[in-house]
Amino acid sequence: MLLIMVLILAAITNDADAQTDSIDATKHDLTGGGVDEICVFCHTPHASNAAIETPLWNRLSSTTAYQVYDSNTIDGDILAVGSVSAACLTCHDGTQSTDVVLNAPGTGGAAAGGTPLRGGDRFLDDPDKPFFLGTDLTNDHPIGVQYGGFGSPPIDPDFRTSGNGLQTAFINGQPRWWLDTEPIPDGQRQKTDLILYTRVNSAGSGVPEPFVECGTCHDPHSDANELFLRKLNQNSAVCTVCHTK
Ligand code: HEC
Ligand code: HEC
Ligand code: HEC
Ligand code: HEC
Repeated sequence: MLLIMVLILAAITNDADAQTDSIDATKHDLTGGGVDEICVFCHTPHASNAAIETPLWNRLSSTTAYQVYDSNTIDGDILAVGSVSAACLTCHDGTQSTDVVLNAPGTGGAAAGGTPLRGGDRFLDDPDKPFFLGTDLTNDHPIGVQYGGFGSPPIDPDFRTSGNGLQTAFINGQPRWWLDTEPIPDGQRQKTDLILYTRVNSAGSGVPEPFVECGTCHDPHSDANELFLRKLNQNSAVCTVCHTK
């Protein structure tokens, strides 16, 4: 009887594992050196940094000035680094240690200036690592950029528009936009869809509009592939979700 129960329990646990999209054992699992809380490197339930829009952010804002993308052919408005991109760049710009958080585990861990988790940094030692984007973002795909297929007529006609993958809905009273990635768009916002981030377009209309940010193409928790891509880029499939090229 006991054996059967153990077997059933094991089966349930296996099932749950199979269904869980988990950050464990991805490159964003920064645990080790006595720190076993996987979320703490990015989130805290209390004393988070509300200046960063990303939920319950446990890291200090970067104080750096970024150089943003520009070109002769760009059509959309480009805003200063913000939204989820500002959260990613608290590590990926390489200006602060990936090891310093606002609220360390346990009692009395919160410190306005940040607390080193392990008293040192394991990641900034090698600036040649490909995960360093630096503060010069002119050589990276534009972020904080207005989505081109938005507007009527579209700001740039070479983008998917509504009826062709671009979805919009009011969620929690806010306008939200995303690009469905299913062969037949299902109209539901899932983490495998490319999420556009609502920002007030301070460089243009002055009203909330959809913007492309780091989190549009990447889901920092996903174990679906090692680049945290929301969709595999085989045959440049990520690019053609948006660009009709
Ligand atoms: C490497 C940094 C990082 C780690 C580690 C991390 N997160 Fe996140 N998390 C983010 C970022 C960035 C966002 C914003 C993503 C977005 O806007 O789509 C986010 C968003 C979220 C959200 C809200 C959006 C959603 O996807 O539901 C929840 C909930 C969340 N994280 C929970 C967790 C939990 C629980 C853990 C630990 C098991 C964890 N995160 C670990 C970076 C991280
Ligand atoms: C707490 C710091 C931290 C935050 C916040 C963070 N990352 Fe990372 N990320 C890392 C580290 C460290 C690595 C590399 C780990 C390694 O190679 O061992 C990494 C790896 C990656 C990689 C894989 C790079 C490769 O060459 O394999 C991608 C892609 C990535 N991060 C994207 C993001 C995005 C997008 C966000 C925001 C949504 C984000 N990260 C937020 C620390 C962070
Ligand atoms: C428009 C989609 C898109 C946006 C926006 C985007 N990325 Fe990526 N990113 C990709 C794709 C696709 C790859 C994989 C490229 C490849 O396969 O070589 C990638 C790769 C990476 C890598 C690994 C680089 C390497 O060569 O190992 C990192 C780190 C990364 N992205 C972080 C970020 C961060 C941080 C942001 C925001 C500042 C961001 N990405 C914005 C699509 C995007
Ligand atoms: C979520 C939608 C989205 C995805 C996915 C995406 N892009 Fe973009 N991309 C944009 C937007 C929006 C712009 C800004 C275009 C504009 O306003 O002219 C842009 C700009 C560019 C530009 C610069 C255009 C210029 O005129 O300077 C290039 C090149 C580009 N993307 C290539 C790619 C490639 C390659 C991929 C896949 C790795 C990709 N994009 C994925 C939305 C996307």
